[in-house]
Amino acid sequence: MSPLFFLPFLLLLLLPIAVPAAQLRPGHYSETCPEAESIVRDIMKKALVKEPRSLASVMRFQFHDCFVNGCDGSMLLDDTPTMLGEKLSLSNINSLRSYEVVDEAKEALEKVCPGVVSCADIVIMAARDAVALTGGPDWEVKLGRLDSLSASQEASDNIMPSPRANASSLIDLFAKFNLSVKDLVALSGSHSIGQGRCFSIMFRLYNQSGTGRPDPAFEPKYREKLNRLCPLNVDQNVTGDLDATPLVFDNQYFKDLVSGRGFLNSDQTLYTYPQTRTYVKQFSSKQGEFFKAFVEGMIKMGDLQFDQPGEVRRNCRVVNHRPVNTLWNLGGMNPTF
Ligand code: HEM
Repeated sequence: MSPLFFLPFLLLLLLPIAVPAAQLRPGHYSETCPEAESIVRDIMKKALVKEPRSLASVMRFQFHDCFVNGCDGSMLLDDTPTMLGEKLSLSNINSLRSYEVVDEAKEALEKVCPGVVSCADIVIMAARDAVALTGGPDWEVKLGRLDSLSASQEASDNIMPSPRANASSLIDLFAKFNLSVKDLVALSGSHSIGQGRCFSIMFRLYNQSGTGRPDPAFEPKYREKLNRLCPLNVDQNVTGDLDATPLVFDNQYFKDLVSGRGFLNSDQTLYTYPQTRTYVKQFSSKQGEFFKAFVEGMIKMGDLQFDQPGEVRRNCRVVNHRPVNTLWNLGGMNPTF
């Protein structure tokens, strides 16, 4: 039989399969990769020892992944000659970090159950683990996502909010993703861990809204501290803590907002605006309420999915399928069309 006979079948194997958005459920890998969740948690424990901040950095991935075309691991893709990925988008360039932690998790998973656990699910598990391992709540995650076949720098540029954002624009943005005002405030509480760059606060320190003056919402002593950290001629990649306890997931972030010690404009604005202030106050006095609302928000954000073809990537940085022209080299076939 002519090898050409198999060509359509081979093509089918290599092409992405168009499927409706995957059904997400807890324990999705209980049969196919029962150790998946413990493997990811172990990698996160190691990351905590190696570089404590990396947990915050990895936790942030969930936000930057899920808001751009759903939770599909798209932000993990490296650029290719034909695709501008999300790593160099406005919000991500020089800012998102610790991709190697996800790579390590993926490598460990591929050894035990090759081709089974998606990168998109690794992001969701790792974000949960980051919170749990730094003193925050632990929860059951829904799994079963597929990885995207492409990424979009343009979508990331258009969607991801600026550190200058005010509460009303953040409320509108989150509403587009079916996330409430309470979700917005609770999820911003993720800034209970991690750091931000001087780059993200220079305007706030020296030229808020083009006034040539600092943001009046700053508590003066805190502003002086940030002035010392980020003088006008600073290397803007210098980083500062997002709250007073940057390695512990707690409600200190909200206490800081109440006392005018929010790092980003997008943080402090949540206390300035009446609509969001109610929740900031509530979370600052009741850590349990914050934890509960945070878990709800993370689960809702983790449900964001687009109806698009997908696959389980073998390497989170590149898609699996080969371009069709590599077929020409398969088995000596020499198609004439
Ligand atoms: C509400 C809108 C949000 C805005 C405007 C925002 C913006 C930012 C900015 C500007 C930084 C610092 C980046 C830099 O200076 O390089 C940052 C850091 C961070 N963000 Fe957000 N963020 C938002 C919501 C979220 C959400 C929903 C999450 C996760 C659920 C999250 C998790 C984090 C974490 C953990 C860090 C610290 C990362 C590290 O230390 O590497 N953020 N965010």
